[in-house]
Amino acid sequence: MATALQAVRGMNDVLPDEAPLWQRFEDTARRVFEQYGYRNLRVPLVEPTPLYVRSIGEHTDVVEKEMYTFADRLNGDSLTLRPEATAGIVRAAIEHSLTYERPQRVWTAGPMFRHERPQKGRYRQFHQFDVEALGFPGPDVDAEQIVMLARLWRALGLTGIALSINSIGDADERRAHRAALIEYFEAHNNALDEDAKRRLHANPLRILDSKNPAMQAIVEGAPRLVDRLGAASRAHFDELRALLDEAGVRYTVNPRLVRGLDYYNRTVFEWVTDALGAQGTVAGGGRYDGLFAELGGKPTPACGFAIGVERMVLLLEAQAKRDASAADAYVVHAGATAAPTARRAAEALRDHGANVVVHAGAGNFRAQMKKADASGARFAIIVGDDEAAAGTVAIKPLREGGEQVAVPVADLAARFAALQSR
Ligand code: HAM
Repeated sequence: MATALQAVRGMNDVLPDEAPLWQRFEDTARRVFEQYGYRNLRVPLVEPTPLYVRSIGEHTDVVEKEMYTFADRLNGDSLTLRPEATAGIVRAAIEHSLTYERPQRVWTAGPMFRHERPQKGRYRQFHQFDVEALGFPGPDVDAEQIVMLARLWRALGLTGIALSINSIGDADERRAHRAALIEYFEAHNNALDEDAKRRLHANPLRILDSKNPAMQAIVEGAPRLVDRLGAASRAHFDELRALLDEAGVRYTVNPRLVRGLDYYNRTVFEWVTDALGAQGTVAGGGRYDGLFAELGGKPTPACGFAIGVERMVLLLEAQAKRDASAADAYVVHAGATAAPTARRAAEALRDHGANVVVHAGAGNFRAQMKKADASGARFAIIVGDDEAAAGTVAIKPLREGGEQVAVPVADLAARFAALQSR
């Protein structure tokens, strides 16, 4: 019998049982993008290799070691399977003078190819939903894209995806910072690992991304670009933050956030979940005001991001499993007087339609909190003697971070409903 052939390592089939979650994500994303005026655009899966070398950058991991590059045997051209969509979209925009009359909001979706070591959430053929705003100087558009992503997570019912933002400044600021970094790392040369030494002159920014624990102290002490931004970049970043605050989107500023592709300036952002292990970044993007000119077009400010669809599907799968079994709240209580208050709190929540499990049997707070966590419930309701005496309970989010809040039992149902709809 002939041996059966298998798919290429890191390239997956999506079987009919798995497809519904993919379709749910795709339909929801398309709908949300349309709500913000983004229109579909489709570009080839294969482009001339120099497009990626010039845009993504010669000294990035993607270009150095992850691209599927091959010679077209019929004419000798060097071609590359697209590792991402932004470069192709900018090429198409230049080629068709797309932004000649007005700026454009566009999105595209499909497979991308990177020769990485496959693991959960990381594949050699993977899929992105990619969004680009072409011809907008921002920061209103930067904020709009982030707010749009927050809406998408809500529409999908996904919680626990945290936003990090940073500004990496403009080209001049980056050059000055790069020189300062090289000087700093050269002064600490004997503390650098091999990878860092190799990158020192080619791409010192990537050293900041080092996962090597032995390098962390050096990285922590490195000069920070966010402290050296010029007035225009600083104003752009401040305005972005004000717009996110106004929209009620929570974020942390991570001055160490750098992206793996070279074309970015000013705004960069990533959305990360801790539910997927090491491959927790579900979406990433930022501004790339220099890329059009870099690729031979007229200078055109732009901003965009891409979502990793496989990672979305993994999150939706986990959510579906949790939803099938989890209660909305798990009530933990310890102390002689706490139990009646715990039962009263649970009944009040059930009156409002919530599914609530009250801890039964023995166990101190710590042990009960572990049970609450393992139950998959989204919130713990915590009742101790002190709380019971004061007629209050505490609500603690278990999935998405956020502060524990104390509320009077009488207000519990209303406050709980407000937290649930967040
Ligand atoms: P990126 O951060 O390289 O950005 O990729 C975006 C997302 O694609 C990642 O956050 C991740 O979810 C997913 N992803 C990347 N590599 C893999 C992989 N090997 N397996 C599975 N998922 C993966 C870009 O590609 C930029 N073009 C985004 C952008 C658009 N910036 C401006 N406009």
